[in-house]
Amino acid sequence: MTDPQNSPILEARDLHMAFGGLVVFEHLNFTLGRGERHAIIGPNGAGKTTFVGLVTGLLRPTSGDVLFNGRVITHESPQQRVKAGIARTFQINSLFKALNPLASVVIALAQREGRANVSLRSVSREGKLIDEANALLVKFGLADDALTVTETLPYGKQRLLEVALAFALRPQLLLLDEPAAGLSTAQGHELFRQLAVLTADTTVLFIEHDMNLVFRYADRVSVFAAGALVVQDTPDKIRTHPRVREVYLGT
Ligand SMILES: Nc1ncnc2c1ncn2[C@@H]1O[C@H](COP(=O)(O)OP(=O)(O)OP(=O)(O)O)[C@@H](O)[C@H]1O
Ligand SMILES: [Mg+2]
Repeated sequence: MTDPQNSPILEARDLHMAFGGLVVFEHLNFTLGRGERHAIIGPNGAGKTTFVGLVTGLLRPTSGDVLFNGRVITHESPQQRVKAGIARTFQINSLFKALNPLASVVIALAQREGRANVSLRSVSREGKLIDEANALLVKFGLADDALTVTETLPYGKQRLLEVALAFALRPQLLLLDEPAAGLSTAQGHELFRQLAVLTADTTVLFIEHDMNLVFRYADRVSVFAAGALVVQDTPDKIRTHPRVREVYLGT
């Protein structure tokens, strides 16, 4: 048996992924260490979001395997993977937009417990979950906004709520696809600063185009380009790596 504590939290082995005739990955191999804050960078269309989809189970590879804690999960459903401890940010859909953050977090917490039956109408009866939701909103600096309809909140707070909803699932691995997209530079830094504190015990894999954020908040960086992992290293090494400059940083 593999000891999950000694194996990487996430591994991709020889992944091949194609959408019809469009090959995104050929033989992608990727390893993520437990506890890392790991950034994926690469040009538009490099397959970064596709990779997240393969990890969450939204997409299935043409061949190859995805392993979580040393266990093959390639054929597991997204729900099974959430249960195993993989969460990605919720896109705040129209339902959540019309709710307030407190109700949204209570519903997310209920989902974590496998209860899909908690609706807006029954939220007020969930005393224990309401306490937990309030505590989480305090942590994320959203306490004053708990009862404000989400779509009327500033955009930065909506993005923060997206992360809080994923975090409510208590994941071992948190996946963030451009969490700071649409935010100002200052708001992006604020989001990542808060994330760094909140996720001290969680492995975080994030996609980010803003190199300032990447170099500041990642322990390690993977560069995807042309269907492959070009290089994986520390931010300092990535910054000066000739191949990275060639395929991405453009200097
Ligand atoms: N569902 C899909 N069907 C067909 N092609 C797709 C699908 N999803 C992605 N692609 C294609 O696969 C390639 C990789 O896309 P992907 O979204 O993973 O790139 P990305 O690295 O996330 O890019 P960006 O930085 O623009 O977000 C692109 O050429 C894209 O057009
Ligand atoms: Mg993308």
